[in-house]
Amino acid sequence: MNTDDYSCLKAKLQTSLVGRELMVYERVLSTNKTAYDLALSGAEDGTVIIADSQSGGRGRRGRSWSSPAGVNLYTSIILRPDIPSLMAPQLTLMSAVALAETVALLLSGFVDIKVAIKWPNDIFLQDKKCAGILTEMKSAGRDVEFVVIGIGLNLNLRKESMDTSITGLASSLYIESGHEFSRSEVAQSLYSAIENWYKRYLDEGFSPVREAWNRLSGIQGRHVRAASGNGYETGIALGVDEEGALLLEGDAGTVVRITAGDAIFI
Ligand code: BTN
Repeated sequence: MNTDDYSCLKAKLQTSLVGRELMVYERVLSTNKTAYDLALSGAEDGTVIIADSQSGGRGRRGRSWSSPAGVNLYTSIILRPDIPSLMAPQLTLMSAVALAETVALLLSGFVDIKVAIKWPNDIFLQDKKCAGILTEMKSAGRDVEFVVIGIGLNLNLRKESMDTSITGLASSLYIESGHEFSRSEVAQSLYSAIENWYKRYLDEGFSPVREAWNRLSGIQGRHVRAASGNGYETGIALGVDEEGALLLEGDAGTVVRITAGDAIFI
């Protein structure tokens, strides 16, 4: 098994919060489920779960997440910020910024490729998805008790081993760069990036995250169709607002707030 990759991870972490409590598994149903159960039992802020493979990896909107062993990163981070539940989506956008910056940095030495965030938190290389985030939350009254940020990053996955259901839609850092990455080193960089952004978010609020998300998404000014409730809204994207909702300006000049679902450029 490849958890060997992660045997020195804890010793090499350069963080003071994210991953100080770190649990490595060979195979779990879903790192998000393991993390959620641990959080219910009191696991502390910054606790990290990482697994070599998942038998029931979960994606957004009830989808599954292909999670073969030995190649990709599957990790979940428990955060316990002192914020209202209403603001929890901001943490997903914050994680997307940290993930996009990590991916861009990793690839920068090998290939000149555009890394972009697609609403709300997919990471795209050109027109193919290489990573996704699934955030799950438990509230205590009006506030967040904890959130679980689950990240799946296609790292060393080869085209020929890709699930047929995602061929043509997905990619990996290896496919785009021809370079094989150390999962442990990637995890270290990712946890550092998340910790830096998390501390900044707690100190300075959502504004810097919002600015970075809007820049990395390239969505502002683009004509977008976004899933909303059971239907769709179309309009020119104005970017995310202070609460982390996507603002679309329709033809009549009315502005619609999108808080869930996917979006595509049209
Ligand atoms: C998406 O884009 O649909 C979100 C995918 C999130 C996948 C990750 S892999 C680690 C964590 N555990 C899960 O079951 N899901 C997330």
